[in-house]
Amino acid sequence: MSAVPALSLRNIHKNFDGIIAIETFDLDIARGEVVALVGDNGAGKSTLVKIIAGMYQPTSGEIRLDGEAVHFTDASQSQAKGIQVVYQDLALADSQTVYMNLFLGREKTTGSFGKLDRRSMIAETEKLVRDLDVRIPSAKSIIRSLSGGQRQGVAIARATHWATNLVLMDEPTAALGVAETARVESIITGLKARNLAILIVSHSLDQVFRLSDRICVLRRGKQIGIRKTGETDKNEIVSMITGLQAATRI
Ligand SMILES: Nc1ncnc2c1ncn2[C@@H]1O[C@H](COP(=O)(O)OP(=O)(O)O)[C@@H](O)[C@H]1O
Ligand SMILES: [Mg+2]
Repeated sequence: MSAVPALSLRNIHKNFDGIIAIETFDLDIARGEVVALVGDNGAGKSTLVKIIAGMYQPTSGEIRLDGEAVHFTDASQSQAKGIQVVYQDLALADSQTVYMNLFLGREKTTGSFGKLDRRSMIAETEKLVRDLDVRIPSAKSIIRSLSGGQRQGVAIARATHWATNLVLMDEPTAALGVAETARVESIITGLKARNLAILIVSHSLDQVFRLSDRICVLRRGKQIGIRKTGETDKNEIVSMITGLQAATRI
């Protein structure tokens, strides 16, 4: 692990019109590390993901990428820093093709007239979906015609393609079947091997224990603790999530 974390969060606090969504949150994620963020509905997980992605601004606190303080005011700014997000609620353009979705906002063009270089975008998309084993009929398929699992595959392929630092995944397999989930998990393992930092929100503790290096627990906006995955078990994590057993903070 390098000395400077890919992502550092310090004293992150968020309230929405006086309602506290995140009390105080601290976390470092190293390159090549998978951190799982777990907690019940309303714990603040998605809020935290959106804060890191620049969709929400923290009420107070500090975000650093590779040691450098950042203040994102929208998602395009975090993308420019190599951060990609796969959201719980899919964010794809339904009436567009798979390849246009992969290049949304970064379309390739040819020559000086800005004509879309469809051939090259299609070829790159085909290679990417083949490499990731995302099973879709064609790079030219319209998103609307795909199954939920196939759409999520496209969203993950897009994130994988553009991420250079950090991938945030908010319940990426919540709507998927067993085989699709296994493919997504192997993609996440591949991202880790590429030395990206990964934060995954998941309700599946089996998945969390398969994928993560550390587990961070939120309960109603409070950071309950962080555990090394190899040094904890499901019982402890469940008790931290539910609060049915006292757990010490970090
Ligand atoms: N845009 C928003 N405006 C007001 N309250 C919000 C907003 N987004 C989230 N919240 C509140 O913040 C809390 C945490 O929500 P969320 O981050 O979605 O939880 P989780 O993803 O862990 O289920 C909830 O009480 C939710 O109602
Ligand atoms: Mg959520």
